[in-house]
Amino acid sequence: MGAVSLVVLLGCCLLFVPIIAWSSDATLNDDVLGLIVFKANLRDPRDSLSSWNEDDSNPCKWVGVKCDNRTNRVTELNLEGLYLSGKIGRGLLQLRSLRMLSLSRNNFSGGISPDLLLIATLQSLDLSQNNLSGAVPDAFFAQCRSVRSVSLAGNRLSGEIPLSLSSCSKIASLNLSSNQFGGAIHSDVWFLNGLRSLDLSFNFFSGEIPAGIDKLYNLRTMSLRSNRLVGSLPANLGSCSQLNSVDLGQNLLSGELPESTRNLSACASLRLDRNSLTGGIPYWVGEMRALETLDLSSNQFAGAFPDSIGELQQLKELNISANALNGTLPESLSRCKALLDVDFGGNNFTGELPRWLFELGLRRASISGNKFTGSILIPTPVTTPSLLALDLSSNAFSGEIPVELGSLHSLQLLNLSRNSISGSIPGSLGELNGVEILDLSGNQLNGSIPPEIGRAASLTSLWLEKNSLTGEIPNQIAACASLSTLMLSQNNLIGSIPESFVNLTHLQTVDLSRNRLNGSLPKWLRRLPQLLSFNISDNLLSGEVPGGNFFAAIPLSSLSGNPSLCGSVLNRSCPPVLPKPIVLNPNSSSTSVAFSSSSDLRHNKIILSISALVAIAAAALIALGVVAITVLNFRVRSSGRSHSAASFLVPPDDSSTRSPATNPNSGRLVMFSGDVPDFSAGTHAVLNKDCELGRGGFGAVYKTLLRDGRPVAIKKLTVSSLVKSQSDFEVEVKKLGKLRHPNIVTMEGYYWTPSLQLLIYEFVAGGSLHRRLHDAAAGVLSWQQRFDIILGMAKGLAHLHHLNIIHYNLKSSNVLVDPFSGEAKIGDCGLAKLLPMLDRYVLSSKIQSALGYMAPEFACPTVKVNEKCDVYGFGVLVLEVVTGKKPVEYQEDDVVVLCDLVRAALEEGRVEESVDPRLMGDFPSDEAVPVVKLGLICTSQVPSNRPDMGDVVTILELIRCPQEASSPREDLS
Ligand SMILES: *[C@@H]1O[C@H](CO)[C@@H](O)[C@H](O)[C@H]1NC(C)=O
Ligand SMILES: *[C@@H]1O[C@H](CO)[C@@H](O)[C@H](O)[C@H]1NC(C)=O
Ligand SMILES: *[C@@H]1O[C@H](CO)[C@@H](O)[C@H](O)[C@H]1NC(C)=O
Repeated sequence: MGAVSLVVLLGCCLLFVPIIAWSSDATLNDDVLGLIVFKANLRDPRDSLSSWNEDDSNPCKWVGVKCDNRTNRVTELNLEGLYLSGKIGRGLLQLRSLRMLSLSRNNFSGGISPDLLLIATLQSLDLSQNNLSGAVPDAFFAQCRSVRSVSLAGNRLSGEIPLSLSSCSKIASLNLSSNQFGGAIHSDVWFLNGLRSLDLSFNFFSGEIPAGIDKLYNLRTMSLRSNRLVGSLPANLGSCSQLNSVDLGQNLLSGELPESTRNLSACASLRLDRNSLTGGIPYWVGEMRALETLDLSSNQFAGAFPDSIGELQQLKELNISANALNGTLPESLSRCKALLDVDFGGNNFTGELPRWLFELGLRRASISGNKFTGSILIPTPVTTPSLLALDLSSNAFSGEIPVELGSLHSLQLLNLSRNSISGSIPGSLGELNGVEILDLSGNQLNGSIPPEIGRAASLTSLWLEKNSLTGEIPNQIAACASLSTLMLSQNNLIGSIPESFVNLTHLQTVDLSRNRLNGSLPKWLRRLPQLLSFNISDNLLSGEVPGGNFFAAIPLSSLSGNPSLCGSVLNRSCPPVLPKPIVLNPNSSSTSVAFSSSSDLRHNKIILSISALVAIAAAALIALGVVAITVLNFRVRSSGRSHSAASFLVPPDDSSTRSPATNPNSGRLVMFSGDVPDFSAGTHAVLNKDCELGRGGFGAVYKTLLRDGRPVAIKKLTVSSLVKSQSDFEVEVKKLGKLRHPNIVTMEGYYWTPSLQLLIYEFVAGGSLHRRLHDAAAGVLSWQQRFDIILGMAKGLAHLHHLNIIHYNLKSSNVLVDPFSGEAKIGDCGLAKLLPMLDRYVLSSKIQSALGYMAPEFACPTVKVNEKCDVYGFGVLVLEVVTGKKPVEYQEDDVVVLCDLVRAALEEGRVEESVDPRLMGDFPSDEAVPVVKLGLICTSQVPSNRPDMGDVVTILELIRCPQEASSPREDLS
């Protein structure tokens, strides 16, 4: 008979013939047959039972099978975790010597066969973690003669425990946990006096725990956790003196701890949490010396926590949270040297933060939700290398956050929220590089958020809301790459939402509401893939709410209270950016930077760092230049001394000038008009320190008087060795002498000797624009004055460019402001022409040394430097005049380049905030905004994108008087 047909035949037989009546063929092994039939009824997706070959004479080498080595009968079948499914077939009943059967952790379904325990030899049956359902048939337990261990845990079995269970007189271990069993637990269970382990947890058993538990004198572990048991704890629980582990948690038990419990001297684990137990925690708890785990949490225990707890030397885990305990925590806890996890939260404990919390080598400690007071003192040196979680929240702690907290390097959770802690957040918290949850919310913290927080690289949740924090949100937070929750609401934070947040791709919940944040909503927000909630309500944010799915779905309450936000999402149309006809768009050129995509962002960073590099290089050049000029000055001064002062008194003989004065032996003084300077005291006196007005790239400037008493400014050229021959010098200077414009400092004459050259200029009393802007003593320029200065500079430059003269050296210290007319006058015009070689190196190193004004093409050998470098300098001057900030400012560890700053402000719609705060908002924004944009266009990176100065003058005039404009002009570039 072939094995396959045998199986088919067998399968049929089993359907109709009682198995016991089936007589075996002497040539066949019963066990082989039984197992092959069992296998035929199940699915074996991983082919785990491939070794089960029906042609074998015995199954003893098959996977999961163990035999008696004398009889070759199967004694153990262990098929745990083989992904088998299907019904548990009756073929197993053939295994007449089977002692142990485990089918646990498979996917067997269907009901429990009533016959399984018919295998008379079976001692251990494990069907746990399958998908078995239905009630357990009464007949199932009725035949359990020798069974010692049954586990049906982790199925979907329902109904009551069959009364037949009481027949299992030898049963030592019964596990019915994690099913859907219900009904009452019959007191019959207590007659199983061989029972050592009883687990009925996670079912729906109801009613009281029946009396008679004292009969289970062998019981070691008992769990009735998570049922619906009511009534009190068994009064004679303590009679089960062998009990090692008792878990009655998560029921509806009430009443007090029965006194017999004190006899559980072997009990290592007592869990009574989440019931409604009342009364006090008795003193005798200290007698349960074996306790390692005591969980009485979430009950209604009241009164003080007994001192005797200190006797529990084995105690590792103590949880008495969420009760009504009061008084102070017993100092004796410091003797529980084995403690790892303590939770005293949610009681009415008082007193100060116990020292032992930091001295026992705890892993987790919570005293949250009590009435602890005083300041948080961490004993030093810090000796809690293992502390993972510290929760001091919801108490009445005051004082400041101790810097030492930063030394608890293993912390993963630090919660100090809802106390009365004041002072600022110590930067040392950034040293908690394992901390994932940091909650300091609901205190009285002030100062700014320390940028060091960015060093806490594991942070996933940062809660700082409901404090009095000020300043801006530090960019550095973006270094916490795993951050998913950021709660900063209800503080006094200012500034804009940092661009760097675009890197926080795990952000899910962000609450920035109720601060004073301004600027526009970053467009990149919609690129944060996991963002679920983003609340920015009640701030000063402005501009258009970006489109996209995220913002279309955002609840309006998350945006409300920002009067200047607009856009279709809010059903509020955005005002046109410019009410004036001129639309200037500094971002229209390909080189200027927009934050519309991350690559652009990176681009911007690169530009910034180049600017910073240029600034740093320029600073180095200045330092060199100062040394060089000092040396040159020294040389000039020593050679100047050899020239007699008297020589100045002799007029040069030059018919082409109206007041010539010359002395061929010692030098030549030429005045283009009017009087001769009063050099009667000699150059030595004229050019002395007291009369010095200032120094520039070309030399020092001194003030002196003409004979008629009119003051002039005399510039002593210090680049003498670079100056061309006398004739070349005179040709250039005479050309410059013809320059007459109200916005250009007039050159009135010059003096030349081979070793000393002087240029004589109109004296402008008001001092330089640099002084007017940056010297506090000079007072504040009004918007009107600033606009006049910008327009004047533009006109002066346009005039220069018209005459094909490039200034090369624009900067605020080269622009003078007439104190009476308010007219800006550009100085040092055309002096670069006096240099023998007008090359890029000389220009950039000797002249364009002024930080921040230098057009980028100076650093780029392939780009021709033309008059557009002046337009760049002018653009910087415009921004300088409008913002009152220097073109490059050094902050603590940062170089701030004005153009980049203003460009970023424009992109975020915060242009008006960049206007000099000293104006106190007293300026027409319909002039300021386009002027700033004009400045930015002038500072375009590519020279050809910058407008001509002539156009600039026209635009400025249109900005001031738009109604006179004949036709609106669109987009300058
Ligand atoms: C059978 O197994 C027992 C232990 O399981 C061992 O002591 C005995 O020697 C074995 N007998 C044979 C014949 O292998
Ligand atoms: C502690 O609570 C009990 C009642 O629960 C009360 O009688 C006792 O006065 C309280 N003790 C303190 C110190 O508050
Ligand atoms: C703490 O004590 C106060 C009275 O002092 C009481 O109202 C409150 O309910 C108690 N809280 C807890 C958690 O027991």
